[in-house]
Amino acid sequence: MERTFLMIKPDGVQRGLIGEIVSRFERKGLQLTAAKFMVVSRELAETHYAEHKGKVFYEPLLEFIASGPVFAMVWQGDNVIALSRALIGKTDALDALPGTIRSDFAVHTNFNLIHGSDSAANAEREIGIFFSPSELVNYEHTI
Ligand code: CMP
Repeated sequence: MERTFLMIKPDGVQRGLIGEIVSRFERKGLQLTAAKFMVVSRELAETHYAEHKGKVFYEPLLEFIASGPVFAMVWQGDNVIALSRALIGKTDALDALPGTIRSDFAVHTNFNLIHGSDSAANAEREIGIFFSPSELVNYEHTI
């Protein structure tokens, strides 16, 4: 069983796409493990996107992520990292395959609706940034 961090960005929230996007992961058969509706601080954005520091899109990205509420989530399932990235589609909406979230709803790379971890190491890092262990549901202990 694998875990990943997914975050519906301010554009996805503002456009009323939380339900549509969450529904796609539910229908796929993946399991929601934690969720938080929140505004990302500048500090949190810097930590989350540290690997992009210095790139031309870094500053606009930080500003955008902190510009309004996001819906941060942890999902689990076999191969959830690769599967969720397949559902999300390529970063650039022009390259995203039809049927993916970014192809169906996004036009611009800067406003691409959702972030998904790209590796197991980054998933654990990002989950740790946004959630404390006690916020993750253990389904074995629920009815
Ligand atoms: P995300 O998956 O959140 O990871 C980094 C984000 O930077 C990416 O989605 C895009 O929203 C944004 N971004 C803007 N320009 C680029 C680019 N040229 N390459 C990668 N990411 C970019």
